[in-house]
This record gives sequence, structure tokens and C-alpha cells, in this order.
Amino acid sequence: MSDQPLLRVENLAKNYGTRIGCADVSFELWPGEVLAIVGESGSGKTTLLNTLSAQLEPSSGQALYRIRDGNFRNIYDLSEAERRFLTRTDWGFVHQNPADGLRMTVSAGANVGERLMAVGDRHYGRIRDTALDWLGRVEIAADRIDDQPRSFSGGMRQRLQIARNLVTGPRLVFMDEPTGARRFGAGAAPRSPASARR
Ligand SMILES: Nc1ncnc2c1ncn2[C@@H]1O[C@H](COP(=O)(O)OP(=O)(O)O)[C@@H](O)[C@H]1O
Ligand SMILES: [Mg+2]
Repeated sequence: MSDQPLLRVENLAKNYGTRIGCADVSFELWPGEVLAIVGESGSGKTTLLNTLSAQLEPSSGQALYRIRDGNFRNIYDLSEAERRFLTRTDWGFVHQNPADGLRMTVSAGANVGERLMAVGDRHYGRIRDTALDWLGRVEIAADRIDDQPRSFSGGMRQRLQIARNLVTGPRLVFMDEPTGARRFGAGAAPRSPASARR
């Protein structure tokens, strides 16, 4: 546990030209905390998540992320290489449309295994075993591991995207209406916290 937040957002705003995307956003997110952002369509939820995950530059304000050495760094002052490192190791991002977060023409197992390889895992057998374990956690049958997500239902695609994001144990997961377009069965939530972790 920690006595410091993981993320500290200060007066963040993002405009698209003269249109306001989101404005005046300030909050802290603590390890283990789940923060839900609620608002009508067009209120800026996607803009905020894309800005926080460094896919967009803010118009003003800052977002301070506590990196593993304990120091807070403004996400927008990081180098491109540092941001890419965080995206690969520390953060997950679950898109509203699973096709945006999956590789649709490689197997389900490879979609999960790819994230493990990105953090340095090279052992094929272990990668496959971990992928199988995660498919089970999101209730995708083991015999679908070699199928491409193209052949999956919408709900299965979304669960695969969640598995792909959580397999590396990210410290912070952004989820943009992950269940908005799809119905999840009551038992289909991953059996591991899908939220900020240590
Ligand atoms: N790429 C864009 N260019 C211009 N305006 C945008 C763009 N993306 C979003 N917006 C505008 O920003 C506002 C917030 O949109 P969005 O963040 O998508 O809201 P939400 O996710 O809550 O539905 C809306 O007025 C929307 O039209
Ligand atoms: Mg949105």
C-alpha cells in the first residue's frame, strides 16, 4: 500500500479549436481505487481518458503520475519513449470498441501473449499457459485460443481486450465504457481487480 496517490490531475482542459472537449478537471486517484466518470454523451469522458493516457495533448493543466521510483512526473513532460514505456508496462487502455484495442487478424492467444512479450517474457510455453489462464478468467473457452477475434462475438471480443490489458498487471487501467455497447453476463467480469493497482 502507499500513502501517495497514483495520479493527481490538476485543472486539466482539452479544447478542439473553439469547442470544449473537457474543462476544469481535478482529482486524485489512489492505488486500488476505482473511479467512475459519469456524464451524458458529449460531456467529455472520452476526451478526458484520451488526454490522461497521453493520446491527446491537453490545452492546459497537468496530470502527475507517480512512476515506480516514487516520483511524480507530469505525463505531458515525458519524452515519447517514456510515454511509450508507460503505455506498454504501467497502463492499460480498454477501448469502447474492442476492434480499436485488439489485433483482429492474429489469434486470441497472441493478442494476450503479445503484451507479455512487450514486457520481456520470451518463454513460449509460459506465455501460452498465462494466456490460457486469462482466457479462462474472462470466460473464453480454452479451445478458442487459436481463433482470431474476428470470429468472436462482441462480448467475447471485449472480454479478450480486457484480458489483453490485465495480463501484465498494469498499475493503472483506463476503460472507456467497456460494457457500454455490449452486455456482460453477470459472471463474466474478470476475476481480478480491473482497476488501479499498486
Ligand atoms: N476529434 C474531435 N474534434 C472536435 N471535437 C471533438 C472531437 N472529439 C470530441 N469532440 C467534442 O468534444 C466534446 C466531448 O466529446 P467526448 O469526449 O467524445 O464525450 P463523451 O465521451 O462523454 O461522449 C463533444 O462536444 C464532442 O463533439
Ligand atoms: Mg465517449
